[in-house]
Amino acid sequence: MKKMIALMLSILLLFTLSACAGDSGQESGNAAENTPAETVIPSLEAQGSAAAEPEASVGGKALVLYFSCTGNTEAVAKEIAAQTGAEAMELLPEEPYTEDDLNYQDDNCRANQEMNDENARPAISGRIENLSDYDTLYIGFPIWWGTMPRIMNTFFDEYDLSGKTVMPFCTSGGSGIDQAVSAIREAEPDAEVREGLRVGSGSAENCTEAVAAWLEGNE
Ligand SMILES: Cc1cc2nc3c(=O)[nH]c(=O)nc-3n(C[C@H](O)[C@H](O)[C@H](O)COP(=O)(O)O)c2cc1C
Repeated sequence: MKKMIALMLSILLLFTLSACAGDSGQESGNAAENTPAETVIPSLEAQGSAAAEPEASVGGKALVLYFSCTGNTEAVAKEIAAQTGAEAMELLPEEPYTEDDLNYQDDNCRANQEMNDENARPAISGRIENLSDYDTLYIGFPIWWGTMPRIMNTFFDEYDLSGKTVMPFCTSGGSGIDQAVSAIREAEPDAEVREGLRVGSGSAENCTEAVAAWLEGNE
């Protein structure tokens, strides 16, 4: 009798175990169905490419060079530096711009006087000694009266960027970057001047995606 009970218990145990194994198999089967490989793998790849972004500069050693009076272009410059791993350097005017200098509603403000004179070349403070070390230059500025501020003309007059890749970027209230890009191409005919990035003044602190898309389009 004892043997019969033991046998029946063993059979019961066997069923219970195989039933459990079936459950867990089914669970993992469902999980696999709910997350097909096509869904999982691209998201892993996207993470991989995000991690690789610091190497996304268009080629060789890169520098982010920017002019910014009220911080908007600087915010974009820092985002580009963060995403590319490039160093950032600010172009400072020898004579800093005051609030009055930038008051473009006043016809006679310094910025307007400079923009009204196409030969104006406001001086840059100091000199960049090691510019030849860089292959790619991300060059940023605000848009003033539809184009780049004259201090950028000073920069392009003073430095020969032949053979370098130039990635222009700007911030503005609404104007595009095309006029500035044409001016840069004219000033640096032997540089490879790529499509520019324009970020709205109000989006400068929130430009991660715009910068990423621009960098990706210029790899
Ligand atoms: C003198 C001056 C002229 C400007 N002209 C324009 C313009 O033509 N079009 C435009 O969209 N924004 C214009 N702006 C707005 C700036 O492009 C915008 O505020 C920019 O984000 C400032 O950048 P920053 O903070 O890096 O100096 C002008 C600003 C100044 C001071």
